[in-house]
Amino acid sequence: MDRIGVITSGGDCGGLNAVVKGVAYMANNRGMEAVVIPNGYAGLYNLINLESLVALSPARLDKFPSNFAGSEAGHSRVKVKKIEDSEKYNRIKEGMKKFNIVGLVISGGDDTGSVMVDLDNEGIKCIHAPKTMDLDLQTYSVGGDSTINRIAQIVQDLKTTGRTHNRIVVTEVFGRYAGHTAFRGGVAGEADCILIPEIPVDWDEVYKRVKRRFTRRIRLSDVNAGTYTIVVAEGLRNADGSEIVDESAGVDSFGHKKLAGAGKFVCQELSKRFKEDPEIKEFMRETGQLVEGLYETPEVREVRPGHLVRSGMSSAYDTSFGWEAGAAAVLLLMDGKSGYTVVGVDGQRIGYIRSSEAIVQRHVDLSQVALYEQLGICFGRPIEEFHPQFFEERRKIVRIYS
Ligand code: F6P
Repeated sequence: MDRIGVITSGGDCGGLNAVVKGVAYMANNRGMEAVVIPNGYAGLYNLINLESLVALSPARLDKFPSNFAGSEAGHSRVKVKKIEDSEKYNRIKEGMKKFNIVGLVISGGDDTGSVMVDLDNEGIKCIHAPKTMDLDLQTYSVGGDSTINRIAQIVQDLKTTGRTHNRIVVTEVFGRYAGHTAFRGGVAGEADCILIPEIPVDWDEVYKRVKRRFTRRIRLSDVNAGTYTIVVAEGLRNADGSEIVDESAGVDSFGHKKLAGAGKFVCQELSKRFKEDPEIKEFMRETGQLVEGLYETPEVREVRPGHLVRSGMSSAYDTSFGWEAGAAAVLLLMDGKSGYTVVGVDGQRIGYIRSSEAIVQRHVDLSQVALYEQLGICFGRPIEEFHPQFFEERRKIVRIYS
């Protein structure tokens, strides 16, 4: 029987198990078998040495729910191109032949997709089911919605402790150099300020807005209580374009810098300004908080949820998209296509684009940011105008994520 190999690769996230199941059930439906190629491209490279593969039979599929985040297929961050073995592509082909694998469904983000483009160029049949919590592909990708929901929950939850201690709470979230998850998670969690890599930060503007809203909240409170919530994307940059990153964090096996330090930097910038601002001491006195030498300025604290934003349960949106993307990928393979990324399924139409195009990084649309600036959220720059254009349109136009 012909087999389809399922690979999941890069950072894990919500929706992947639905992709795996979508692939497996559609393969079964079309008289084929789906098998797990374990641990991403590391497993693909080592396929030749494996004794057997797990076949995704209905009984095996019953062992994991499609709405659990993470992937039953396992992950690694191995870039095939970087493997020092001139015979690597032949070795992969031999491995696939050994197990009668006629094509691959590969779920991953831009790095995974770039490897997929190489594999396709080397004559290995493969289709890409888009995945990344960073949401920075040209297509929607599983993981985005789940992560955004988790960020929103965390940001909202942190307000109880923030308000109890009258602290400014800075939540640093994953997303690499695109601010989608910070932006949408921050909006949904009602953050006061959202700092994203797409907007170089004007720290004086941030301070002005923090001070105004935070002090007003506490002054208006009958128990002198208030917090201020900042969501910051890990890939934040300074106004001159330089990265705000803790270089000691090292690099991952794709060779990318591990990003860390943005939240800490925000805390330092605000704390410094609080200390230098005489009006703050006066505010502390006026609201009954000042204790000379011990408690003279509000505290700014950083929280890094880290991998929690991509763990746990997948959202219903990601689970549905994952099922469809996995199933559609099999149908594209069966149609003889290779080197394409699934865009989505619309009725009986399956949308796809070349993977080389799909992996071009997509950034936050700053015109949408301007809308939220009118609604009071600070994005670390002076408020920009929002110029609405009106048009009549019957078809759905709501595009939240892409
Ligand atoms: O690309 C997904 C992602 O979650 C990034 O947002 C983050 O920088 C990175 O992966 C973390 O990677 P790892 O799980 O390898 O630490």
